[in-house]
Amino acid sequence: MCGIIAYKGNKNSTNIILNGLKILEYRGYDSWGVASKNDKIHIFKEIGKIGEINKINLPNAKIAIGHTRWATTGSITKENAHPHLSCDNKIAVVHNGIIENYEELKKNLKNHRFVSETDTEIIPHLIEENINLGLFEAVKKVANLLEGRSAFIVISEYSDDLIAVRKGAPLILGISNDEYFIASDIPAFLDYTKNVNYLDDNEMVVIKDNPTFFNFETGDEIKKRIITIEWDKEQARKGRYDHYLIKEIMEQKETINRAINQDESEIQKIANEINNAFGTFFVGCGTAGKVCHAGEYLYSKIAKKHINFVVASEFSNYKHFLTDKTLMIAVSQSGETADTIEAIETAKKQNVKVISLINVKGSSINQKSDYSLLINAGPEKAVASTKAATSQLALLLLLAYASANRLKEGKLLLIETAGMINDMLNLRYEEHIKRLAERIYENEHLYIIGKAANYPMALECAIKIQEISYMHAEGFAAGELKHGPIALIEKSTPCIILVANDETKKDVLVNAQELKTRGAYTIGISPEYNKIFDYWIKVPDAGDASPIVNIIPIQILSYHLALLRKHDPDLPRNLAKSVTVK
Ligand code: M6R
Repeated sequence: MCGIIAYKGNKNSTNIILNGLKILEYRGYDSWGVASKNDKIHIFKEIGKIGEINKINLPNAKIAIGHTRWATTGSITKENAHPHLSCDNKIAVVHNGIIENYEELKKNLKNHRFVSETDTEIIPHLIEENINLGLFEAVKKVANLLEGRSAFIVISEYSDDLIAVRKGAPLILGISNDEYFIASDIPAFLDYTKNVNYLDDNEMVVIKDNPTFFNFETGDEIKKRIITIEWDKEQARKGRYDHYLIKEIMEQKETINRAINQDESEIQKIANEINNAFGTFFVGCGTAGKVCHAGEYLYSKIAKKHINFVVASEFSNYKHFLTDKTLMIAVSQSGETADTIEAIETAKKQNVKVISLINVKGSSINQKSDYSLLINAGPEKAVASTKAATSQLALLLLLAYASANRLKEGKLLLIETAGMINDMLNLRYEEHIKRLAERIYENEHLYIIGKAANYPMALECAIKIQEISYMHAEGFAAGELKHGPIALIEKSTPCIILVANDETKKDVLVNAQELKTRGAYTIGISPEYNKIFDYWIKVPDAGDASPIVNIIPIQILSYHLALLRKHDPDLPRNLAKSVTVK
């Protein structure tokens, strides 16, 4: 987690860093800080969110670094906020990631004075310890010493060089006329340039007048090609919306079409790989995990093929079943989730082929996969995943149809679904859901049920409500209620019923009736009205695409619950957008 950014050029660097940090804030918002360098290094740190701050008290400088923190090692204090300094205050470092061997490394720094509890602080001290080698060699040596996934950026009073290292955590160089940006994510500098170089693992970049790349393990220089990225800076902004979350929910009018706009021969090739593999695993975390779980059901129904869904953090338990004929489909919006990366590494050790569905080109998962399909949802900034989830679902559905040799039919279904979502996402629809939020926002418990592919969607709805509104929400397989959870139902307990117009409908409605009989306030998400529902939210009848349309009203409901309960829907407490720790 954490976001890091650096600038070297002729503009006022602190303003650029501050703007970039606001954009990176979704990666962590426990504290933030900036270091700028003219003849000396100057530091500014604060606890909490950057919020509306537009100016900080630092002298004008042409080089600066910044950091926004999601606390891992060390509590949320000003001392633990980055940047961190060497004893002589001449070396400043911002860092994203975890240094697994920092305690061991710290033992060799007995004569250094540490002021924080962080693992990061060892980096400036280790560089200082080796500064007699020169800044470049010292940073290179330190990069080789660190264990764990990291990225860090260094400025110093020893030279005007800006140096950045990637060792498992994302880092991208942005290049404009005579100015350079380095950041954890492209939107941080999208206002200034679309020309980028992705750093790969074990690479470092040194910016003197121009950038030079090295492999820090071998010391070899690396030549890189500049890539012009397609993201539009408006896509990465809130525009007319109050929050990224509602903007991204509304963008689902277009994102399904963008997700399925793929080279059909590629889709068919991947579908054939799934058909021919001796065991296919769908692997992801959180919302991406629920999408994989739904994918398992979709494959079973449409392609009559068994897929193994495994939560990424549990994947190592399946290593005994992996061979070079196994296939892994890894699903991740950010492409940086540590648990998913670790699952990929486990798979790779057994020669498993890895295909990923990602939203961020150049991300770690993109680099580690044999092949990646981009979901093309555009930047997703709100911590709660919405448009990425429906795009991932759309692609898995398309693959299932392709595996059944019905690709054209699947595509047609998804094009129709995209059109129905476009019609559905209007102000009147949102108002109807907001009225429901007003009825239930003071409740502490909420339950969601679904069957088949709508069962993982019930779990996904629970994640959405939990993470943004902090209400206790739990999803269940509809048939499981009577085996225990029904004891939780009291008079007026809100219960959401996800209904698909298929062979599961009858059973789900029976379970809904069981809830109503125990006094539940029943909320039907369904293409058709049923008298069991106390509140009905109509969704289009999208056939096999029902999991896609059924989660959208709950995304909107979560947003309004968060607002009514006075929480920030974009930056929920304790969370960060990409979870780059285990
Ligand atoms: O970037 P990823 O898709 O790999 O992220 C996985 C989860 O961390 C993510 O989906 C998380 O559960 C979201 N906050 C849910 O809205």
